[in-house]
Amino acid sequence: MIRKPNTPLSQLVELFGPELITTDEIALEAINTDQRKIFKGKALALALPKNTPDIIKILKFCYAQKIAVVPQGGNTGYCGAATPDETGTQLVLSLRRMNKVRSIDPVNNSIVVEAGCILADVQRAAEEVDRFFPLSLGAEGSCQIGGNLSTNAGGVNVLRYGMTRDLVLGLEVVLADGRVLNKLTALRKDNTGYDLRHLFIGAEGTLGVISAACLKLFSAPKSIATAFVAIPDVNAAIKLLTKLRSSSGDLISSLELIPHIGLELVLKHIENTRAPLVIPSPWYVLCEITSAQVTEPLVQRLEEILTAALKNGLISDAAIAQNERERQAFWRIRKHIPEAQRHEGHSIKHDISVPINYLPSFVKQASAWVAQNVPEALLVCYGHVGDGNLHFNINERRENNQRKGTNQNTLANNLTKDYLVAYEANIQRAIHDFVSSYNGSFSAEHGIGKLKVDELEHYTETAELDMMRSIKKIFDPKGIMNPGKVLRGHN
Ligand code: FAD
Ligand code: LAC
Ligand code: ZN
Repeated sequence: MIRKPNTPLSQLVELFGPELITTDEIALEAINTDQRKIFKGKALALALPKNTPDIIKILKFCYAQKIAVVPQGGNTGYCGAATPDETGTQLVLSLRRMNKVRSIDPVNNSIVVEAGCILADVQRAAEEVDRFFPLSLGAEGSCQIGGNLSTNAGGVNVLRYGMTRDLVLGLEVVLADGRVLNKLTALRKDNTGYDLRHLFIGAEGTLGVISAACLKLFSAPKSIATAFVAIPDVNAAIKLLTKLRSSSGDLISSLELIPHIGLELVLKHIENTRAPLVIPSPWYVLCEITSAQVTEPLVQRLEEILTAALKNGLISDAAIAQNERERQAFWRIRKHIPEAQRHEGHSIKHDISVPINYLPSFVKQASAWVAQNVPEALLVCYGHVGDGNLHFNINERRENNQRKGTNQNTLANNLTKDYLVAYEANIQRAIHDFVSSYNGSFSAEHGIGKLKVDELEHYTETAELDMMRSIKKIFDPKGIMNPGKVLRGHN
C-alpha cells in the first residue's frame, strides 16, 4: 500500500474534514486576491470555522505545526492585509460562516455579534429594536465586523460617533496558540488592569483572531436633514463645519468632501445617478445633521444655516433632500466614488489625515505637486473632511467617450497607468512627506497591511516600532498570525 505524504495540508484535511478545510480551486481563487486586485497570493487552503471552538482547534493545530494563518473577513480592505503570500503555505481563515447576532440589549444599548456578521446586518439588527449602530461605509454590504474591528474602520459618521474602536464594549479573541481571551463584556466601566481589547482593534489579524464582539448602540435618529452643497474650496468646507456645529448644537454627523471630478466619475460610471445641483462647482460637501427627537425641525434649521452661508458667500448653492429617496441618492453618489474610480482605471490611493486647520494648505500644496509631476493623471481628492481624513487619490484617466460599464483601454491610458505603477512608491513618498510635515497620518483609516509596511517603518520612531515588535512577540511568539502584515515578517 502506498502511504499518502504527511503534509501540513493532508493533516489539516484529515483532522478537520472538508467541512472545515476546503481546497476547492474556485473558493481559493476568490480569497487569494484582494478587492483592488493588486495583491495575488496562493493559500495553502481555506478554513471555514462555524464557531469559536472551531477556531480554537484550528489555531492550536497551526500553532503546533507553525502554519501561518491569515484571517479574512469580507475581503474589502485596501492594503492587501487579508491576502495570503505566494508561497502556498498560509492558511486563510474566513469568518464568513460566523455571522450570527448572539444577543441584543436595547436597555444597555449593546449588541453581541459573531465576527463574520456583515456590517449592514448589524445596522439592520439595531434598527429592528429601534436603535442605531453608526459605523457606515461604502463596503457595508460585504465587509464584516471582524474586519472593521481589525482595521479600526472609520467611515462617514466618525465626526459624531468616532472610529470602530470607539464603538466597542467587549471582545472575544482566539490567541495564536488557541487560548481564548474572553472579554466579551457589555460593561461600560471596567478598570481591571491593562485594557488588552484595544491591542486587537486595528491589529489587522497579526495578534489573534477576533471571534465575537459586544458593540455600542445609540438612539435611532428620528429627524434627519441632508444637504448637497456647492462650495468654492476646501477652506469653505471647514468654515461650514464650524457653522453647522455651533448652529445645530453638535447634531452634525457627517461632512463629506466631493470634488467635481468625483461627481463626474460617478455620473459617468455608476447607473442611476444624477447631479443634485444644476450649476457645476469645483467642490461639494454632503452634510447631514440628525436627532433622536421626532419633532426636531432639522430641515428648517439646516435651511436657515445654508441660507445664511449663501448670503455671505461661504457656499454657492445647495440642495436639501426632501425625502428619504433623495437622501439615498445623495449618499449613493458619495459612497460610489471608489467604485467609479475603479472603472476609470488604476489609482494610487493616499488615505491621509492632518489636523483639520491644515487641510486646505495640505490640499493646495499636494495638488500643485501632482499638477507639476503627474499632469496627465486625474486627482480625486475626497472624503471625510469633517474629521480631517481625505482620500487623496491619483487616478489613471480614461477617454471621455466611454460609457457606463465598459472597460476599454487605449495606448494613452496605458502610458498613464504604466507611469503610475512604475513611480507609485516615489509618488506616495512625496505625498506622505507633505502629510508628515503637517504632523498628519499616512494611514488614517485603512491600516497598513502589506501595502504600507515600508511607510510605517519610514515614518515611525524607532522606539515605537520596537514596542510594536515586542507586542507582536508576546502575543504571537512563533509569528504565525498574518506574517508580513503591519510589521515586516522576521520569523
Ligand atoms: P478584510 O479586508 O477581510 O480584512 C482586513 C484586515 O482585518 C486583514 O488584516 C484581516 O486579516 C483582518 N481580519 C478580518 N477579520 C478578522 C478577524 N475576525 N479577526 C482578526 N483579524 C481579522 N474603510 C474605512 O475605514 N472607511 C471607509 O469609508 C471605507 N469605505 C470603503 C468603501 C469601499 C467601496 C470599499 C471597497 C472599502 C472601503 N473601506 C473603508 C475599506 C474596508 O471596507 C474596511 O477596511 C473594512 O473594515 C474591512 O473589512 P473586511 O471585513 O472586508 O476585512
Ligand atoms: C471611502 C473609502 C475608500 O471613504 O475609505 O470612500
Ligand atoms: Zn474613507
